[in-house]
Amino acid sequence: MAKIVGAITTSHVPAIGRAIAKGLQNDPYWKPFFDGFPPVRDWLAKVKPDVVVLVYNDHGLNFFLDKMPTFAVGAAAEYRNADEGWGIPTLPPFRGDPALSWHLIESMVGEDFDLTTCQEMVVDHAFTLPMALCWPDMKWPVRTVPVCVNTVQGPLPSAARCYRAGQAIARAIAAWPGGERVVVMGTGGLSHQLDGERAGFINKDFDLHFMESMATHPSWATQYSTAELVKLAGTQGVELLNWLVARGTLPEKVRKVHANYHIPISNTASGLMVLEPMD
Ligand code: DHB
Ligand code: FE
Repeated sequence: MAKIVGAITTSHVPAIGRAIAKGLQNDPYWKPFFDGFPPVRDWLAKVKPDVVVLVYNDHGLNFFLDKMPTFAVGAAAEYRNADEGWGIPTLPPFRGDPALSWHLIESMVGEDFDLTTCQEMVVDHAFTLPMALCWPDMKWPVRTVPVCVNTVQGPLPSAARCYRAGQAIARAIAAWPGGERVVVMGTGGLSHQLDGERAGFINKDFDLHFMESMATHPSWATQYSTAELVKLAGTQGVELLNWLVARGTLPEKVRKVHANYHIPISNTASGLMVLEPMD
């Protein structure tokens, strides 16, 4: 049986790609952010995953505003990097795991989740940069299963539904007969808003509450409607829905292995957590 060995949740921001390309990890602006990642890499070296299920939002590459699936799952043998125009370097392609992807799709559709299945898919900074932060040599030692959540254009899936989607992913992985060790990543957030009157909005109080809830009270954020989450976290802060999917794949009780929080990275409050199932 495949096993979820833990979850990593982290922000994604295109500027991180530029900082990596320019080697700015020790620059005073970037150091507090990059310093969050060595403990993540130590943990990965210990848990040795075979597969990463990567929950993120597509930023207009596969799905533009004219076609917007609520949940989409990749089922390709390979995923190539593209981006929506921030001019950041392209990273090496990622191996897929079509057999596990199709199992996940069958299992979730079997539980009445309506998915879009993608036999071709390109991946953007929300997928590539968290991978590059975990494996800076960019020789990806894992196969990947991309899970896209619509955090972009209303109506968005509710926080409660995202949490339940994570629980459904966990059931699918537990039923997979392979012996794979799986890490689930959730990328995006925390509070930020790129557009409109509140551009630049950040809510540290909310972010810290949310991170605490991820460790100790995982359904806390499901009390909020999408409109309330936008108000609390910003129009792009709702990317925290990806964190909730990842959190839903773990049992109620988890061990917080590591956390980091830093403001700002570009326009974003950056958060990072590593959680392990408590068994
Ligand atoms: C920024 C944050 C994002 O989540 C994103 O997708 C693009 C840009 C930013 O803070 O610049
Ligand atoms: Fe984003």
